[in-house]
Amino acid sequence: MRKPILLSGIQPTGKLHIGNYVGALSNFVKLQNSGKYECIFFIVDLHSLTQEFEPKEKRKHILDLVADYLAAGIEPKQSIVALQSQIPAHSELTWILSTITPIGELERMTQFKDKSARQEENINVGLFTYPILMAADIILYDAAFVPVGEDQLQHLELTRTLVRKFNSKFGKTFVEPKPILTQFPRVMSLSDPMHKMSKSEPAGCIFLDDSPAEIEAKVKRAVTDSGSEIAFDEAKKPAISNLLQLYSAVAEKPIPLIEEQYKRKTYSEFKAKLAALIAEHLAPFRAKKEKLQAQASKLTTVLTSGSKKAAKRAEKKLTEVKEKLGISL
Ligand code: AMP
Ligand code: TRP
Repeated sequence: MRKPILLSGIQPTGKLHIGNYVGALSNFVKLQNSGKYECIFFIVDLHSLTQEFEPKEKRKHILDLVADYLAAGIEPKQSIVALQSQIPAHSELTWILSTITPIGELERMTQFKDKSARQEENINVGLFTYPILMAADIILYDAAFVPVGEDQLQHLELTRTLVRKFNSKFGKTFVEPKPILTQFPRVMSLSDPMHKMSKSEPAGCIFLDDSPAEIEAKVKRAVTDSGSEIAFDEAKKPAISNLLQLYSAVAEKPIPLIEEQYKRKTYSEFKAKLAALIAEHLAPFRAKKEKLQAQASKLTTVLTSGSKKAAKRAEKKLTEVKEKLGISL
């Protein structure tokens, strides 16, 4: 029997932060290594065009993200690593799906509302139809599982709605994908524990490329709650709870054990250890990424060959879709 398909994607918009890593990328690697899935990981460059960008920098951001994938442990011999824009079927299916997507469904999307508020001078139509392209990315490959952070659940729900709608209108064609979340699917900003860690607010981020000194400085500066107890309580102590979850994720240790360990310790002792743990955890990643970045042609080859493999599958699916719609000759 064929293994179920697992698929995800990340936008090439610059450096990844530890929220991307703990919420998504580290899980891509674990799931790949479980051997239970056939994995496809995209660099979703078309999605990234919805935010302001410098064309001169785009290629670098794309190759850097391939380096991030490989440095984290994605194995191109085992998983397909592909560039979304190289596969025209994604854009074509997006159009087709847009004709069965109610505008109201898109208007409800939290990410659209957030991004429109953040980039008032550039509220483009792509920002609005972004979730349809994401649905196309997923269902073109019959993906059954999609590992993502919590902020993408609403988009996946829309994907599932579109699958049901298409299948009931035109006959069973697509698979309804299920999300896979990590233990910590929503990492909060270090400077504001009420907001998720996000590239658009770099002060609250730990980037995967940060040096140990930068990590130490950022964790030291992280806001804390009133009181001095190191205890998990998301409602009353959101800041320390966020740091405890980060600790738990990088040390792979349950939170109660960490609370016990720091019962009579201070915030500053806890923070110093957390910073050291993060730096240590990311050290092999940083070293591997640096090496990979010096091998641009290797990174390009990974993408070219992965995109070819993905395109073959996508074209086949799109042909089936056109037949179902009655638009094939
Ligand atoms: P993006 O950079 O928006 O393409 O996001 C890449 C992946 O990281 C997606 O699966 C997001 O859900 C996930 N992600 C982004 N920010 C966070 C966060 N603060 N906590 C957990 N996961 C996140
Ligand atoms: N929308 C996702 C994000 O902002 C990225 C994405 C695009 C994606 N296509 C996808 C994620 C397909 C999973 C599957 O993070």
